[in-house]
Amino acid sequence: MAYDTLIVEIEDYTALIRLNRPEALNALNARLMQELAQAITAADRNDKIRCIVLTGTEKAFAAGADVKEMAEKTFTDVYFDDLFAAEADAIARCRKPLIAAVSGYCLGGGCELAMMCDFIIAADTAKFGQPEINLGIVAGMGGTQRLTRAIGKAKAMDMNLTGRFMDAAEAERAGLISRIVPAKDLVTETLKIAGKIAEKSALTAMLVKESVNRAFETTLSEGIRFERRMFNAAFASEDQKEGMAAFMEKRQPQFRDR
Ligand code: HXC
Repeated sequence: MAYDTLIVEIEDYTALIRLNRPEALNALNARLMQELAQAITAADRNDKIRCIVLTGTEKAFAAGADVKEMAEKTFTDVYFDDLFAAEADAIARCRKPLIAAVSGYCLGGGCELAMMCDFIIAADTAKFGQPEINLGIVAGMGGTQRLTRAIGKAKAMDMNLTGRFMDAAEAERAGLISRIVPAKDLVTETLKIAGKIAEKSALTAMLVKESVNRAFETTLSEGIRFERRMFNAAFASEDQKEGMAAFMEKRQPQFRDR
């Protein structure tokens, strides 16, 4: 499938999706968001894909929603359109592991998009921010919610109220990202991590993802109960039999996602 605003490559059970509007620092316009929701949904449903990597260009993962496209909109326009809400929901509903590989600017809707992914690998050049306040708006795709859950109230308030940028080292200390790699190695290193995940059973990885995400939606006792159900359910899979047999036979497992 060819896209105007994305480049998609599929290899070794991994889909690499590159945002491709370099002239606008990958600003998220309507076309890009529609295509991205479509590409992620397609990858999620493709049984040749076990892990998805989302990246931008060296200078920017994405510098936010496209201000030029938004500037003239009225309350009624954005209220009825529910700007990017359907696309954001589709992306957040992805059931397979989704990794953001972030280099350069990762701002506003771009930072929110990275936070919709399961974890973020950042280049040492990455800069995160929720600068919407400078435009007279509030973050609209999770910048006050996912960011607060990720880094806590003090830093989330600081980021959203001052609009300042956070570098990769601070983002790692704060728990926004999982690892920092040299900028030149960002995509290769992230693909290696995706490759590790793609060696596992897609079925088990999806149970893991669902379980961790549950922690954000419910109480601890309900979350533990949910995890226990997922644990029990894993024993209904062929991949549990294969994984444990391979361990006992001292060989690599051959998972079939069944
Ligand atoms: C549209 C953008 C853009 C954006 C950059 N560009 N960010 N166009 N929307 N968000 C365009 C610039 O207009 C310019 O094109 C080109 O990309 C290069 O950008 P420069 O500003 O010349 O680069 P630089 O001086 O290096 O500054 C980089 C920057 C700055 C610090 C990232 O571009 C910037 O502050 N961008 C806006 C960041 C922002 O406010 N994001 C939040 C958006 S609101 P031209 O053709 O003009 O030269 C949001 C809400 C989401 O995301 C909610 C969704 C529901």
